[in-house]
This record gives sequence, structure tokens and C-alpha cells, in this order.
Amino acid sequence: MPGYRIVFVCLGNICRSPMAEVVFRSLLEDAGLADRVAVSSAGTGEWHVGEGVDRRAMRALHARGYDASAHRARQFAHDWFDQHDLVLALDSANLATLRRLAPSPLATEKVRLLRSYDAEAVRRGDLDVPDPHYGGPDGFGRVLDLLERACRGLLVEVRREVAP
Ligand code: 4NP
Repeated sequence: MPGYRIVFVCLGNICRSPMAEVVFRSLLEDAGLADRVAVSSAGTGEWHVGEGVDRRAMRALHARGYDASAHRARQFAHDWFDQHDLVLALDSANLATLRRLAPSPLATEKVRLLRSYDAEAVRRGDLDVPDPHYGGPDGFGRVLDLLERACRGLLVEVRREVAP
């Protein structure tokens, strides 16, 4: 039973956060930490609940060897803070929504931006993963680049938590 729980949160839970989920799970598997960390994702919006991953996201993932075919979109609920150690927002709009939903200071502390784990992004002050939903297919490869960078940084921190 994994002791450490992470949920990635975007708006629709059909593009960015399920992509982050599969990328980070793959890194955990490679690092031998998959049995210690549970990874999931959700959206702050309700529009796509129950749907699979956006076809363009699926294609971009597949091209790099990831599989998100089992994903079904969910909406983040305010009582999920208790069940997670880290609630990672994909952009600052979703960060603000999550902070509003947080029922306590402890819950608020669990909310971070995923790209805050990418030192280069922090240096440049560019911490959003842009929403690719209304753009072209190129946006999805770019999103995947950003996610792979941030997830590598996240792994360094999570390893400290679960395998000190
Ligand atoms: P995501 O992308 O937040 O990365 O899953 C979006 C998906 C759907 C919508 C917005 C963003 N939408 O407005 O329906």
C-alpha cells in the first residue's frame, strides 16, 4: 500500500494532468519507487468527468512510449486534501482554485505548482503548463517536454520523502 499520495490537477483532467500522471508514474517505476507512491489526477472543472484522455494528448504520449488509455476524468473534491500529501496544480489558475477549496492551512500547504520542481522554470518565473486544449497538436509535445522536466525535479524531492 503506497504511503505517499500525489494528485496532479488541471482544468479538464483530459490533457495536462493525466499526462503528468503517466509521466511521473513511469519515472517512479524506473526508480523502483512505484510501490511507495500513489499517483492520480483530477480536474477542477466538471465538464469532462468520465471521459478518456484527449486524442491529441494520447498521441503525443504514445509517441514517447507512455500509455494513458485507462484514464477516466474526475473532478477534484474539497475532501480529497486529507487523502493526499501533495496536490500539484498544472497552472496558476488551478492553483488559485485549489487554494480556495482548501479547508485548512494544512490543506493549503499541500498545494504547489508542478513546475516549481523545475529549477529552470523557477529561475525564469515561468511556472504554468500552458493549456494545449484549444491549440494545435504541436502544443502537446511542448507540454510533454515541460512535464518531463518538472517530473524529474519532483522525483528528486519525492525520493527524499519516501526513501531517505
Ligand atoms: P486540461 O485541458 O485542463 O489540460 O485537461 C482542458 C480540457 C478541457 C477544457 C479546458 C482545458 N475545457 O474547457 O473544456
